[in-house]
Order: sequence, then C-alpha cells, then structure tokens
Amino acid sequence: MISPTMDESEAPVSWSLKFTLPDWDNRASVRCSTHDYRLPGDVEQQLQTRYWFPPAFLPYLTHPAIQAKGRDTLHRLTANHLVYFLDYTTLLEHRIVNRAVEVIVHRELPIYIPLPMKHAALQLYTDEGYHALFSNQIAEQIAAFYSITRRPVIPRRITRMNALIARTPEKNRALAWFLLGFVSETIIARELLEACRDTLVSSVNDMLRDHLADEARHSRYFAEAFHYFWIAMNSRQRLFASKTLVEIISIFFEADESWLQQSLRSAGIADSDALEIVAGMTTMQARRARARAGSRPTLEALHKAGFFALPHNRTLFAKAGLIDG
Ligand SMILES: [Fe+2]
Ligand SMILES: [Fe+2]
Repeated sequence: MISPTMDESEAPVSWSLKFTLPDWDNRASVRCSTHDYRLPGDVEQQLQTRYWFPPAFLPYLTHPAIQAKGRDTLHRLTANHLVYFLDYTTLLEHRIVNRAVEVIVHRELPIYIPLPMKHAALQLYTDEGYHALFSNQIAEQIAAFYSITRRPVIPRRITRMNALIARTPEKNRALAWFLLGFVSETIIARELLEACRDTLVSSVNDMLRDHLADEARHSRYFAEAFHYFWIAMNSRQRLFASKTLVEIISIFFEADESWLQQSLRSAGIADSDALEIVAGMTTMQARRARARAGSRPTLEALHKAGFFALPHNRTLFAKAGLIDG
C-alpha cells in the first residue's frame, strides 16, 4: 500500500494515514467562502473597541514607552505588524510552502507518491494561492489606510530560508524544501488560532478564520506526509533531515530586529526605547521560549512519526532547547 522504498525492518506505519484534505470541495475557503476581504465601512468606529491584531500576541506593546502613547499608537503598531505578517504570509505561501508542495506533486524525491497524496497536494497548492491573494488584499487596504510605505519588506525569516536552500547541496535540496513546508504548515495553524479573535476588525477576523480553517487540514496533511517520508528515508537523508529541522524551527521564531525598529520609529517611539524593546525580543532565552511553545504541533508530528525513537534526534532537539533533555 505504501512506499516501495520502505525499509521492511521499520515498524509499520499506522495505515490510518490518508493523505487527503477531507471534503475539500465543500470546505476549502477558495471554494466556499463568501467573504469579500474589504475593510468594513465603519472601520473607524470598530477601532474604538476592536484591534487590527491582538495586542496580547505582541508582548512588547506593554512597554511603558508605548503604553504612554495611547490607543492611536497601539493601533498603528498593530497595523504595522499585521501588514508585515500578511506580506510575509503572501511570500511564504507562494515561495516556500508551494515550492514544498511542488516537491510532492512532481515527485522530486525518490519516494513513491500515492495518487491521493498528489491530488491533495494540488488542492493545497490552490488553497495557498488563495491565502496569498486575500492576505495581500487586506494588507494593501491597511497600508493605504495608514499610508504605510517601504513595503513589502523581505522578512528576515524568508531571507534565512532562502539562504538555507542556497547552501544545501543539490542532492538534498528537494528534501530541504519539503522540510520547510512541513515546519511552516505545522506551525501556522496554531499561530492563526491564537491570532483569531472576535475583538479584531471584522474583515481581518473573517480572513484569518478562513485561513485557519484550511490550515487545520494542511497541518494534518503535512504531518502525515512527513511520517510517510521519514519511514522511506535512508540514514543519510535522516541525518540531514534532523539537523535541518532544528535549523528551520529556529528560523521560524527569530525576531526581525530591523523591521521592528523601523515599525517603532514610524509610530514615534524614541530610538532609545525602541532599542530596549528590540533587545528584549532577541535574547536567546526569549527566542528559545518562543520556539519551544510555538513548535509544539511540529514536535508532536515528529513524535508521531517515530522521529524521536532515534537517541541522536532527542539529543539534538534537547540541545536546541526544544524538548527536555
Ligand atoms: Fe496558507
Ligand atoms: Fe497551508
């Protein structure tokens, strides 16, 4: 039923793996959503009680220098963050996740791809294209609302992902793309779940919810795909995958210092305060705490796939502070 390259000595995979996006025709946002992703006409009024992005998600907003400025500054900073996040999402969906999906669709790894897995990958590709579209639509409107310029920036994470691919030897490149997709897709559902709140501007919330609904299915798909690939990998590929996964997870939780500094400056925060805020975000401790909490779904998927049955992998991840030693 599964990979012809599967090592017979492996523990049998749980054959509940389906590799599908269940009921995609009736559930995918691109097929079913009726939202138009336009900012509501009463946005000014909504902002008296609602936000662009949940302030609780951005702990630096509690800094006294920002608190002292009041609600307009808070709105500007959360708008900056949302536009940055949406521009990042647009790039991530097109250039990273869909590149990973191409690896599956076009069978770039020497691993047999069952037809349902290929079919679901093509659906997922379509979903991501739509997510990029609605993310961009909302980003453009908020950028116009606040006259936000200097965008889209290339987020630091994207630059780091591209650098990772560039220095990966050709023979491992398809696998590296797949691993980027796997980490991204298992992390994003939780990120969106935390961001969705009824206290957000209505169309932002609609858009995030449409995205979240799809990503819950994508996360499961990529977790299953990883499980399947992991079993089919030889020991050389596994060694590469383990060390690359640690690196990828760390990339996803890096703070973008230069962007944050520029965002704070645009909202009138003094340079000395901005430096203090950025310094708090970029300590090793802060980054590790973010990585450990945010990558929980990825770690669960790894665990389920039997990844941590190898002592080497447990040591590697414990050293990176992702699991207990
Ligand atoms: Fe997406
Ligand atoms: Fe996705």
